[in-house]
Amino acid sequence: MTTAVAHPNIALVKYWGKQTKPGNLPATPNLSITLDTLLTETTVTAAERDEFLLNGRAVQDAKVARFLGALRNRYPLPAYRIQSENNFPTGAGLASSASGFAALMCAINADAGLNMNAEIMSEWARLGSASAARSCFDGFVALVPPLWRAQRLAPAAHWPLSVVVAVTSNEAKSVSSTQGMERSRETSAFYNAWVRASGDDFACASDAINQQDFEQLSEVAELSCLKMHSIMLTSKPTLMYWNAATLACMEEIRRLRSDGTPVFFTIDAGPQVKAVCLPDAVDSVTQALGGIPGVKQTIVCNLGGGARVISP
Ligand code: PMV
Repeated sequence: MTTAVAHPNIALVKYWGKQTKPGNLPATPNLSITLDTLLTETTVTAAERDEFLLNGRAVQDAKVARFLGALRNRYPLPAYRIQSENNFPTGAGLASSASGFAALMCAINADAGLNMNAEIMSEWARLGSASAARSCFDGFVALVPPLWRAQRLAPAAHWPLSVVVAVTSNEAKSVSSTQGMERSRETSAFYNAWVRASGDDFACASDAINQQDFEQLSEVAELSCLKMHSIMLTSKPTLMYWNAATLACMEEIRRLRSDGTPVFFTIDAGPQVKAVCLPDAVDSVTQALGGIPGVKQTIVCNLGGGARVISP
């Protein structure tokens, strides 16, 4: 029996769209920060047959079954009882699949003695969910060609950033990222332009992180987020992950920034808004977002560690 934990990560240069060849490969290079506070804790126990309990409830999850199948094609593994708990809403755009597959891969790696390092774990975690590759590492993380293994661009200590998450809904999203990405690739007229520009966005964001240039990072990260949502909005049928409170948070964050507060927003496939800011701005950002009608809760995170075993 082995228990591992992993945190969600938030992409600053987004991944939306897969390559058509096998391996769950993103169509675009992407870059994220790993958070603390939000946590998935996963325990694997050898059992008679596979069983998956998510937040205490037995579930059938095709992605988990496929992931275990792929691992077993390469390694002799026992059947597993997998118990996974999130301390935050699941499937609502808070990257629960990222922390989930990173924690699961890390637990199985230790339990079965597979001796994978974090890069190899990230390659396997990617098969479950591409963003999970990034949760294997702490700090600033890239997922790039040609190997599509995650790499640490800089440790968390390089540039302490904070993230205030404004939760505007606790409901699971209606269209999964995988379905949404396929729909966008097949139907958005802007999809190819999005893929073509992603390399420049990635280079600009990496450079901003190297130089600790908050303004440059704000511009490129908000633009990458808005481009991704424009691809979603121009898919057929349209993919609209925002609600009224999401828009109100975006507006408030832009107002704060124009008044001199170092903060920018990013939003994934769900209505939650993540306000990335310098640590000194956390209190004012939390207060401003917490006061917006429709914001149910704010959660403050700093940069966190990679996936790791906590027991035994
Ligand atoms: O890895 P998935 O299937 O959970 O997709 C993640 C997609 C976004 O969260 C919207 C963007 C990203 O890069 O994390």
